[in-house]
Formats: sequence, structure tokens, C-alpha cells
Amino acid sequence: MPATGAKPAGVTNEAEAAQAVKQMFDSIAPRYDLLNHVLSANVDRVWWWRAARVFRETLAEPDAAILDICCGTGDMTRALLKRRPKNARPITAADFSQEMLKRGAEKFGQKADKDAPYAIPLEADALNLPIEADSLDLITTAFGFRNLANYEAGLREFHRVLKAGGRLGILEFSEPGGLMGKAYALYFRRVLPAIGRLVCGKDYPYTYLPASVGSFPPPAELLELMRKVGYTDCRWQPYTFGIAGLYTATRPD
Ligand SMILES: C[S@@+](CC[C@H](N)C(=O)[O-])C[C@H]1O[C@@H](n2cnc3c(N)ncnc32)[C@H](O)[C@@H]1O
Repeated sequence: MPATGAKPAGVTNEAEAAQAVKQMFDSIAPRYDLLNHVLSANVDRVWWWRAARVFRETLAEPDAAILDICCGTGDMTRALLKRRPKNARPITAADFSQEMLKRGAEKFGQKADKDAPYAIPLEADALNLPIEADSLDLITTAFGFRNLANYEAGLREFHRVLKAGGRLGILEFSEPGGLMGKAYALYFRRVLPAIGRLVCGKDYPYTYLPASVGSFPPPAELLELMRKVGYTDCRWQPYTFGIAGLYTATRPD
């Protein structure tokens, strides 16, 4: 049966799933960046950079309306900002975890140089965005979509707020096949939770991570769901042997 959304251990409905995810990110926020870079050996920086490059034309437009949803501690947002011109319209960077967002805002908020591109933090749920319909040119989300309590509802909400012709970019983990897949599964299921426990002092977030990647729909299934919701030009570009990948789609006229 296709996955409908994230299901952290012990939850019985979508509201509980969202609450559990929010609490988990609030609790790991102080160590999130450190762990992220250690566990991915900094490869995540390349993934954010590559994803931002795909949208370089929109990012170069000073008036483009851009949302980075599930922005967390802000590294995807920063990769987007590097491609914004001076005096560009600020990006909106949204997340429902206050603790993650607080740390992100320190990185991507307005700086002493008032002309430098910046993002405005917004505490918001991806499934219920406080954003007008048909108003955005671009939505990005990095490693957050997998955590939504309902994937179809998330895609529908993004579709609602995008303008006709607006673009969507979802950067997410996936499970590679073959020998690489086996080695990666060993790292993801055994090594990663052990390191997470050591640095973070908590077990759950780093057993949840491989479990959530394992139950996330494979690329063909997510692309199918995107088309069903009404997107066109739906594509998946694998990164680093398919450990991660970028889904792109357009809201048609
Ligand atoms: C793994 S972190 C990724 C953060 C950042 N984008 C990055 O690439 O490092 C996932 C983020 O998604 C956020 N998130 C999960 N579900 C959400 C939802 N329904 N609405 C808003 N944010 C959500 C979490 O709070 C967390 O900060």
C-alpha cells in the first residue's frame, strides 16, 4: 500500500504524527547542524548548492516570490540566498519547529549590509500555509517533505500557493539499489543511529531517520502523485548514487 505520510512510532493519526515530528525537531535543534555535517560528511552542502542551481533563473529575478518550506536551521535557504541579487525581495523561510527556525533565522536574517539578500522567518505548517493562493514563483523544500503527515495534502497546498508557471523543488533522501544500496543501508541503519546517540544523547531521531526514508515512496511513485495533483514537467534527478535526489515540477497554467 502506498505511503500516505510520515508515521513516527506510536502515532495513530496525522495530527499526532505532525506533533511528534515537531517535538522531535525542537529537541534535536541545538545539535542538528553539527550532526548533519558529521553524518553526511558535508555532502549535504553540495546537494543544497546543486538544488539551488537548478532554479538559478528564478532566483536571479529580484521580484520573484520564493518560499523555502521546512527550512529548519536554514542551509537550503542560504544556498538560495547566494543566488539572489542585492536588494532582492526577501525569501520566506518557514518551519513549524520554533527551535529549528530560531537557529535558521540567525543565519538567513537581515544583516548589517541592508542591501544583502535575506530571508524572513515564518512559523508555519506546510500543510496549512498562511500564504495567498497563486502568489509564489518558487517553492523549495530540503529533507522536510518526507516528514509531512500527508504527502498528497502537502503537494496540494504547494499547488494552491504557486502561481501558474511556478516551480517546485523537493530535495529528499532515497534508497539506492545495488551494492551501493546495501552499503548505504548498513551505514544508515547501524552506524548513523550510533553516532546520533553519541552526539545527541537521544536514540529516537536517528532511528526515525532511516525508518522514514525506508517508508518514503520511491521516485516513480512520488512523481505519479505529483502528476495526479496536477503538476507538469515532473522529474527526479538523483544525487550521489541516488542517496538523495531533487524532484522538480511546474504548476501549469
Ligand atoms: C531534516 S530538517 C531539514 C531542514 C533544512 N531544510 C535542511 O535541509 O537542513 C526537516 C525540517 O522540516 C520541518 N517540518 C517537518 N514537517 C513540517 C511541517 N508540516 N510544516 C513545517 N515544517 C515541517 C521540521 O521542523 C524540520 O525543521
